[in-house]
Amino acid sequence: SGTLKDTFKGNFTIGTAINADQIRERDPVCGKIITDNFDAVTPENIMKAEVIHPEWDRYDFSLSDKLVDYAKKHNLEVNGHTLIWHSQLPSFVRRMKDADSVRQYFTNHIKTVASRYDGKLESWDVVNEALEEDGSMRRSIFLEKLGDNFVVEAFKLARQASPNTKLYYNDYNIEEPAKRAGAIRLIKKIQAAGVHIDGVGIQGHWNINHIPLKHIEDAITEFSALGIKVAFTELDLSVLPSPPNATGADVNQNVQYDAKLNPYTEGLPDSVQQKLTDGYASLFRLFLKHSDKIGRITMWGVHDGQSWLNNWPVMGRTNYPLLFDRQLKPKPAFYQVLKIK
Ligand code: XIL
Repeated sequence: SGTLKDTFKGNFTIGTAINADQIRERDPVCGKIITDNFDAVTPENIMKAEVIHPEWDRYDFSLSDKLVDYAKKHNLEVNGHTLIWHSQLPSFVRRMKDADSVRQYFTNHIKTVASRYDGKLESWDVVNEALEEDGSMRRSIFLEKLGDNFVVEAFKLARQASPNTKLYYNDYNIEEPAKRAGAIRLIKKIQAAGVHIDGVGIQGHWNINHIPLKHIEDAITEFSALGIKVAFTELDLSVLPSPPNATGADVNQNVQYDAKLNPYTEGLPDSVQQKLTDGYASLFRLFLKHSDKIGRITMWGVHDGQSWLNNWPVMGRTNYPLLFDRQLKPKPAFYQVLKIK
């Protein structure tokens, strides 16, 4: 039977998020899934500021260097994630009160991290999640201290520091009309300033009960019309309900939310498994239809056992959002995705 990367060769790159566990290569079965099925890896956490830049004057590149070595050894491209994000910031930044310190951090961080990996990464998510749901700029330390030109400035600095790396704006729910309009304004603003941008990353954290195919298709078309590539950077499909006000894409308003609700600990019922399969199939069908506009599809994790959705938006749930199960077996969704080609 086929593999993801072989099946979609010539259409788009197929990636997965990985962490320190996978880089240590202690699990040969997981390792083989990665090298058989994926062309690309995204560091799920280890290039984030809190890991790579723990103190004002200290960077820690030990894990990120290992990731780059691992990727090189296995012929995987690396998609850097992420230079500027309001979340997972080191505490020295979260404590900052004055604009000058934030600006110094911002400039030094981008210069230092981006230049270290230029020529080693395929792309950077230069800025992650700078928008609110209504398309306005997200209220964050960067907006407050640097003003709303910070996104343009981040791209400018990233380009100077890493001219050989593709530069992406990355966010969730930007397929939704209001937030999409905000993303388009932001991208046009970067372009109008004469600053380089290669693409936009739609995260793709959806729910099996709500996959906004029409909005996704409109987003692919509209972003592509700006002259940039579209990537799906963090794809997973939650099978569990989320709190009504969760800041993510997998809000499922049809199900009464219960934080303890953990209905599938004995495994997925066939009907839910089927929904997951259908969801992935319809998404990949859409991706294939627009493969001329799409550069990459990245899964947010290799298998269900290591998915962040077991712990978000509440800790300790059992979720089944990926294409491989906890026993590292390909799921029906995996085979269906291969079949649509
Ligand atoms: C998540 C990781 O998967 C978790 O392990 C971590 O605890 C929190 O961050 N949007 C993003 C990603 O851009 O960086 C997030 O990753 C998921 C949502």
